[in-house]
Amino acid sequence: MFPSTVYSDRRKKLRAELSGGLVLFLGNQEVPFNYPANTYSFRQDSNFSYFFGLDHPDLAGIMDLDGGFDMIFGNDVDIDDIIWMGVQPTIRDQAALVGVTETAPLKALNELVTGALTQGRKIHFVPPYRGETILWLSDMLGIPHLELKANVSEPLIRAIIRLRMKKEAIEVAEIEKMVDVAWKMHTTGMKMAMPGIVERSIAGTIEGIALSECGPVSFPVILSINGQTLHNHYHGNTLVEGRMLVIDAGCENDLHYASDITRTVPVGGKFNARQKGIYEVVLTANLAAMKAVKPGVPFRDIHMIAATEIAKGLTALGIMKGNPEEAAARGAHTLFFPHGLGHPLGLDVHDLEGLGENLIGYDDEVQRSKEFGLAFLRFGRKLQEGFVMTIEPGIYFIPELIDIWKAENKLAAFINYDVVETYKDFGGIRIEDDVLVTADGFRVLGKPIPKTVEEIEKIMQEI
Ligand code: GLY
Ligand code: MN
Ligand code: MN
Repeated sequence: MFPSTVYSDRRKKLRAELSGGLVLFLGNQEVPFNYPANTYSFRQDSNFSYFFGLDHPDLAGIMDLDGGFDMIFGNDVDIDDIIWMGVQPTIRDQAALVGVTETAPLKALNELVTGALTQGRKIHFVPPYRGETILWLSDMLGIPHLELKANVSEPLIRAIIRLRMKKEAIEVAEIEKMVDVAWKMHTTGMKMAMPGIVERSIAGTIEGIALSECGPVSFPVILSINGQTLHNHYHGNTLVEGRMLVIDAGCENDLHYASDITRTVPVGGKFNARQKGIYEVVLTANLAAMKAVKPGVPFRDIHMIAATEIAKGLTALGIMKGNPEEAAARGAHTLFFPHGLGHPLGLDVHDLEGLGENLIGYDDEVQRSKEFGLAFLRFGRKLQEGFVMTIEPGIYFIPELIDIWKAENKLAAFINYDVVETYKDFGGIRIEDDVLVTADGFRVLGKPIPKTVEEIEKIMQEI
């Protein structure tokens, strides 16, 4: 955990952003895997973690904005718990670690909330995302579960976004450590990407690196020779020469800060001419986008820089045609790059997404597009110093999408459908890095992970 003042300072800042009422943060509970006593590995709620730090099930925190105090609710262990889990510090001792002096057993939370409701006080809470929390909140507040979302506190959500989006130096350091573990995961995966290997053997090995070095993976490992499927979790294919292997994987530590990195390598370790051609286009888009990162620049503009580079590169290869700027403006690149350039990264791999994508990524100045492709951009507004973002352009040849566009002759002024047809067996390429927005630009976080054609071919020759 961070020092206690980190958590008390965060709560102080949150308090300064809100005017009155009770702020309620419910920690996560255990979630059954296949029967009640056999649970998934415990993962604390990120907002609870950010403001109250403690990392075990069945805790809640409140901030009484009118009374000016914070309180943690949780139960001390009894002898039955001690037999199974060993001795644990009291809730009071744990609370002191995060700068909280007031504590009470969990059942007292209900009374306190009921009392506040009776007095007509505002209860601020964020959108719940787990069934257990939805039921807990619904029972406690007397709000039918389907109506909880309509009752969340927008002032609280906006205040949390303002705080959590701008990373403190200690948070950046934690993310950076996780990128360093991702370096080991990815370089190991690259070296294993040889013909005859089954995908799951690489996926399992790199997940094992995460578990042995820090904590779990920060999202289920995406690893496939069918990288044209953007989030491919099927790991049963045998690697064959001529395919590219996409590995999109990161990890999180005990504080829950995450990394999220993608690399794509040719099975066998040598790019053929066709692979090299497409790879260099994605790499150019990745680098051009990064170069544009600085405070005040709308992320949507940076997305369009990557889109234009992709249109330029594919035009040079004869896959697209016409004026690349116009092609990108008209959305022709979305046949090959249908997703957004990136997203915030932090305690969540898509940081804060549970609070509502549009509240995080858009504002009055930059509103979400409804156009295919751009609509998938999770974040479009201006960057600020301290934001941590992923930059992850890609090119994919999705046969089903190509067939639909071709049948409609869609944007045919910009696409050489006959040439595209010859790439239907290609797969996909994505290159993803994690960057910090600095005062005057950007910094790529962590130990550099091989990325150029030369670097990848070199490391894949190492045993
Ligand atoms: N790891 C999923 C993503 O890159 O957003
Ligand atoms: Mn990723
Ligand atoms: Mn990502």
